[in-house]
Amino acid sequence: MSKGILVTFEGVEGSGKSTHCERICAYLEKKGFEVVHVHEPGGTRIGQQVRNILLSGENEEMVDRTELFLFMASRSQIVGELIRPALNAGKVVVCDRYIDSTVTYQGYGRGIDEKFIKVLNKFAVGEVVPDLTIVLDVETPIGLKRAKKRLSGEKPDRIEKLKLSFHQRIREGYLALARAEPGRVRIVDVDRDIKKTERAVKKCVDRFLQKRKPMKEK
Ligand SMILES: Nc1ncnc2c1ncn2[C@@H]1O[C@H](COP(=O)(O)OP(=O)(O)O)[C@@H](O)[C@H]1O
Ligand SMILES: [Mg+2]
Repeated sequence: MSKGILVTFEGVEGSGKSTHCERICAYLEKKGFEVVHVHEPGGTRIGQQVRNILLSGENEEMVDRTELFLFMASRSQIVGELIRPALNAGKVVVCDRYIDSTVTYQGYGRGIDEKFIKVLNKFAVGEVVPDLTIVLDVETPIGLKRAKKRLSGEKPDRIEKLKLSFHQRIREGYLALARAEPGRVRIVDVDRDIKKTERAVKKCVDRFLQKRKPMKEK
């Protein structure tokens, strides 16, 4: 058993993962935890190279299975290089996307067998499963609109470019995961007011910490 805590953020594009990961990291640091903030795909030197291959708009010919294995490659690297050592050192790791993104995007989105994805996830991460997963739930068109706005003129990446029905399946996938694993996966509704969402996320994390206790604080 590791001494640390792994919290992951999930949700469709533009749901607010980056925004709320950052805010919760600052909050936890203020509380005295040592916090490591990472994101997927990427987060390591090797993972960043894999991310570039995955997201490049030029790689249109990528087949679904290649995509699946590349996500897994980036994931095993970040677990081995960063996440597992940080957890063993008693830190809180906040990860922007993790194993559930592959179940939703490659499973619900691309139609790859969910059971097989879960086997690969297990192989990639071993015992390093999230203690808490926050799914930021927003209506898909609203999320996509926000993601588009964020681009400010840049081209959307290979996955952002996919059609609305694809992203809608992703949202359904997350809601199904939350139903299947209510102890680990918590849904937070994304309000138009960022502060309100922030408060809801904090409440969710605080509840988890209260139940979890004894955790080494700095
Ligand atoms: N309640 C909210 N929570 C988070 N972001 C919000 C909210 N309302 C509006 N936004 C806007 O939506 C965008 C969310 O983007 P981001 O955090 O990058 O999402 P993601 O990382 O999930 O793609 C930001 O531009 C943010 O200002
Ligand atoms: Mg983001």
